[in-house]
Amino acid sequence: MSIDKMCISCVLFLMCPCYLTQTQQVGHTTLQLGGKDPYLLGKAAAIGAAFGCFSDSKPTYSSINLNCGCPSNAVSGRSGGASLMKEPYHVAKCVESMNKGVTDIYHAQTAAHNNDVMSRNDITPISVKHRLGVRDASTYNAADDKLKNDEEEALPECSAFIKAITMNGDVSKVQVHARLGLLGSFESDEDNNENAEQLWIPPTDVESTLISTTAAQPKVDHKRAQYKAKKKARQATINNRSIPPLRPGVVDMLADKFPHLEFVANGGIQSMEAVQDGIYNRSSDTSVIGSMVGRSVINHPSSFANADSLWQSDSSGNMSPSRGDVLLQYIQYCDLEEDRVRSMGVNVNSLAALRRRLVAVPFHLFVGEAGNNVYQRRIRKLASRVERYTAKGILIAALNEVPIESIDKSVGEFTHMDMKDYGGIERSGPLQKSIY
Ligand SMILES: Cc1cc2nc3c(=O)[nH]c(=O)nc-3n(C[C@H](O)[C@H](O)[C@H](O)COP(=O)(O)O)c2cc1C
Repeated sequence: MSIDKMCISCVLFLMCPCYLTQTQQVGHTTLQLGGKDPYLLGKAAAIGAAFGCFSDSKPTYSSINLNCGCPSNAVSGRSGGASLMKEPYHVAKCVESMNKGVTDIYHAQTAAHNNDVMSRNDITPISVKHRLGVRDASTYNAADDKLKNDEEEALPECSAFIKAITMNGDVSKVQVHARLGLLGSFESDEDNNENAEQLWIPPTDVESTLISTTAAQPKVDHKRAQYKAKKKARQATINNRSIPPLRPGVVDMLADKFPHLEFVANGGIQSMEAVQDGIYNRSSDTSVIGSMVGRSVINHPSSFANADSLWQSDSSGNMSPSRGDVLLQYIQYCDLEEDRVRSMGVNVNSLAALRRRLVAVPFHLFVGEAGNNVYQRRIRKLASRVERYTAKGILIAALNEVPIESIDKSVGEFTHMDMKDYGGIERSGPLQKSIY
């Protein structure tokens, strides 16, 4: 069974105007780029491909991915994401530039190795994560959409997109989130109060001069406007993972249409069994080669803890660590990360944001086990005071609330949970909240 059979997405960090996140595959790490400037994406892809490979000869990232699937205003309005699906030929330019960037690194490496150990297969592959298509959120009608069949609603648009971006051979693998992306505001135009909608942007010098010379400006509570806009953006992100219907069948149709490409299916996969089902129950000659899981793995990580051992041939006999071991190792990582970021001289707010992100990651570690509620309550409470407490302090305090039998329980052993009883997978708890 190929190690490509599954990938678990997890966000590590965001940067603008190109943002980078990492997607874990069994034994591999993919670097995801977000952006719409072909030049910058090409440069970023080259940096990603070169990362690690000149120091210890093994590149850190086994592939580089372009995000054409995130419909959040913060991403699609500014730097691409799902809105790029409206411009397939522009995406083709982006992936061409990315491919050129990684190929340049390959040539630099072959020169460094005197050409003997490298083959063209060592060029870091480029992939694209995308949706079935995009619609305007304010006019989209989910009830109407549900009445349409897959061929009519999604297949033609998505096929045209895939054709355009793969035409020149720059991309041979795509990850398809099998639902539409809804762009813009979810309210109709009449309901839209523009002042409340927009994220506050600092005025330019010219604007500042104009403002200071114009009499009696209405007072705007920027903090409140910012808060409301963020709340709306977060809600739009959540809506985008539940309102448009999932059309997993379209991924199979696409795979039939483009048998020379590799497809990874994403959306609504709730368990390891469903991942295996999606793989083993597909015909052997399909080019759907894997499943990607988002929220379920965030919400109940231990139920996916055995994923590696299912596909990694060399992991035989490896005992899975206890939850306590996992958390203690993670706490060490938090400490190093805080030190690293503090040494860069960041301000208090950035440090607080980092801490919130750090403590969100192990929030679901004890789901289904004794002590989970009090562990989560403690993290939530202390996370509201991240200006005062370090991530390490918060996590140790939370761990102290957990009974020893849960701490000692191996991550591979878990209590089955019906995610519907746990709030469903519509959202991904505080991790999502801290990121979007
Ligand atoms: C907290 C969170 C962060 C995400 N960040 C990214 C991201 O950076 N890049 C990306 O392509 N998808 C991202 N996604 C979307 C997932 O990869 C996935 O497409 C989506 O959640 C649907 O899959 P699911 O039904 O298994 O959750 C994120 C999802 C969540 C919940």
